[in-house]
Amino acid sequence: MNVQSILKDVKKEIKPSKNEESQMKAIIDMVTMVTKDIIRPLDLDYTISGSYIRDTWLSDKKEFDLFILFPKEYPRGELQTTGLQIGRKIMEKIGGKYEIAYAEHPYTKGSFKGFSIDIVPCYKLRKIEEMQSAVDRTPFHNEYMKKNITKKLSDEVRILKKFTKSIGVYGSDVKTRGFSGYLCEILILKYKSFLKLLKAVESWKPGIFIDIEKHGNKERIQQITKNHPLIAIDPTDPKRNVAAALSPDNFVLFVKMCEDFMNKPSRDFFFMENKKIQPKSIIQNMKKRGTKFIGLRFPRSDTVDDIIWSQIRRTSRRIDGILKDNEFEIVGSLEYADENYIIIIFEMEIWELPSIRKLKGPPLFNEKHSKQFVMKYRNVGRVFVEDNIYVAEIRRNYKTPEDLFAHFFRKKPPELMEAGIASKIAEGVSRFGVINQKNIEKFVSENYEFRKTFDFYLNKKFA
Ligand code: CTP
Ligand code: MG
Repeated sequence: MNVQSILKDVKKEIKPSKNEESQMKAIIDMVTMVTKDIIRPLDLDYTISGSYIRDTWLSDKKEFDLFILFPKEYPRGELQTTGLQIGRKIMEKIGGKYEIAYAEHPYTKGSFKGFSIDIVPCYKLRKIEEMQSAVDRTPFHNEYMKKNITKKLSDEVRILKKFTKSIGVYGSDVKTRGFSGYLCEILILKYKSFLKLLKAVESWKPGIFIDIEKHGNKERIQQITKNHPLIAIDPTDPKRNVAAALSPDNFVLFVKMCEDFMNKPSRDFFFMENKKIQPKSIIQNMKKRGTKFIGLRFPRSDTVDDIIWSQIRRTSRRIDGILKDNEFEIVGSLEYADENYIIIIFEMEIWELPSIRKLKGPPLFNEKHSKQFVMKYRNVGRVFVEDNIYVAEIRRNYKTPEDLFAHFFRKKPPELMEAGIASKIAEGVSRFGVINQKNIEKFVSENYEFRKTFDFYLNKKFA
């Protein structure tokens, strides 16, 4: 099949059907009716936003966002409490379930008939400069995209979204660190079609600068956004890089996948997120490496994804540092979380060390320091001279990472936090456990999401 027919095919599959559209519309109509009744006495406004309103939502995406707009004089605290009250009332009136979620400020996460509805309070502003929190931008995005995304472009956005989703880089959340829907929209506005984007990507270099509204001074902005692999200036806000969340590895992965697709186009590129992965092949692959995998498991408390993921990443880096301080080298690490557990796995390059450690001391001719060195270590172990230098053999604190973990995680949560373990992870230390390669293999066999994470770790290559 040639590229054109592949894309046509994909388009057909990801575009919501008439039936889906009318279902979505029915729910939105009902929610807006209820919303109007509730906010009328309060003299507030509302807007439906996100991909539904821009017609860039994907089939099976049963989700929309309802923004409650407050006048800018409203104190922020009141906006929050009233915003939550309104969210609750809407969900109660339509007979759905809801909970409170926290982004930059609290909002209502509702669910109804399989649809998820975020009810977000924000300010209704005339200029983006008056913005108080990130959510205040969304109405501006809506306005801009409603004007600029034509019907034809909206399908191109869908293809790009599906492509990024399939290769695992869709979403600007902390876990994914990829492309947001809004970024996909901007890229299509810039390049006009998915295929033209792919052609352009061939010559993308890290630091690529996209500014469709010609807002900014490239050099000045590149200085602020140093180390951002992609800079896409928000057409509604010159100071913001819409791609700020995109990680360097996801940038490179995206570029590589675009190249691969151009070299050998196939519809498979769009449907990889649920691909079959054989546990056996992962386990074999794992063993062939001759390394050792060691995992840490913590219970997960009821914490939103973005917060827990930033804590997981920070903690993983910290533990890597602690391992290195004790001479255990790692090849890499991977992180996983579901609603019950957090798992951090290290692939060890060095996982066993002898009881003794050789400590290099001062030169023989430095009498003062040599004397101190000898005094300090002669009762600890052997002290001798090697090539003009004093050497002492001392006992190693930990011979294996397991020894180290057993000791380190005996600490109480405040002590762990002091040592650089993030709070939500430190909190669960009493139910912490070390998991070995056998446990990991079992988990790979039983849990698809974990298997996918592991598969990605073992098979990632960007060149
Ligand atoms: N938004 C943003 N930056 C982000 C995430 C969200 O500016 N990193 C704003 C955008 O205006 C976006 C809206 O919040 O359209 C809703 O976010 P979300 O539902 O995550 O994205 P959608 O664009 O609706 O895409 P999807 O089809 O995935 O829902
Ligand atoms: Mg959305």
